[in-house]
Amino acid sequence: MTLNIAIDGPSGAGKSTIAKLIAKNMGITYLDTGAMYRGLAYFALKNGVEPNDEAKVLPLLDTVSMDIEYNENGQKVIVNGEDVTPFIREHHISMAASTISKIHAVRLKLADLQRQIAKKTDCVLDGRDIGSFVLPNANVKIYMDASAEVRAIRRKGDLEGKGDFSHTYEEILEDIKARDYQDMNRDFAPLKVADGATVIDTSYMTIDEVASAVINLCKDL
Ligand code: DC
Repeated sequence: MTLNIAIDGPSGAGKSTIAKLIAKNMGITYLDTGAMYRGLAYFALKNGVEPNDEAKVLPLLDTVSMDIEYNENGQKVIVNGEDVTPFIREHHISMAASTISKIHAVRLKLADLQRQIAKKTDCVLDGRDIGSFVLPNANVKIYMDASAEVRAIRRKGDLEGKGDFSHTYEEILEDIKARDYQDMNRDFAPLKVADGATVIDTSYMTIDEVASAVINLCKDL
């Protein structure tokens, strides 16, 4: 049996920062499942398919292959042989990923890939439905939350850190709320607190405080 730690929650709650730290601390792999939805959304757009056009996304799904690889910079998402990692962090891809993730067949395909990886690799996975749908029997399940306002401030900082100053705080806050709504209200495997998950509200916690809380939850593994 492999060791699986599930961290779910809305965007900007601090999941990936903490998941990376925990993975390093425990010497296990970090699987960023959002990157998989982003990779697929990027691929659809590149092929002229709108992420909400289910009739066109479905045939694309049948032909697309996705591989997750790791190098010294972390996780790479390979779609049909192309490394799409450099393109999937752009602002417009976030909403596109959320939109394509509403499609049932998309979720089944990516959840299947996530389960295959989790079955053979000790890992921390972050996402929206890991504890509730993908791995309901994960060893530890965490739901990381923060207020939309705090998350918007963090997201703005992240974008600016990458040299993107083109979005106002208000715009980012709107986008965050719209994405939360879409992720929490989709029909299949929506974002929610999984049964048995520990909720951590990171709004007023430092990264170190969140990391210690999570390490504490994992100490008996
Ligand atoms: O974690 P992220 O911001 O990179 O995720 C992008 C979108 O992908 C998110 O808004 C919804 C979708 N997603 C999902 O539906 N399920 C996951 N396990 C991970 C991401």
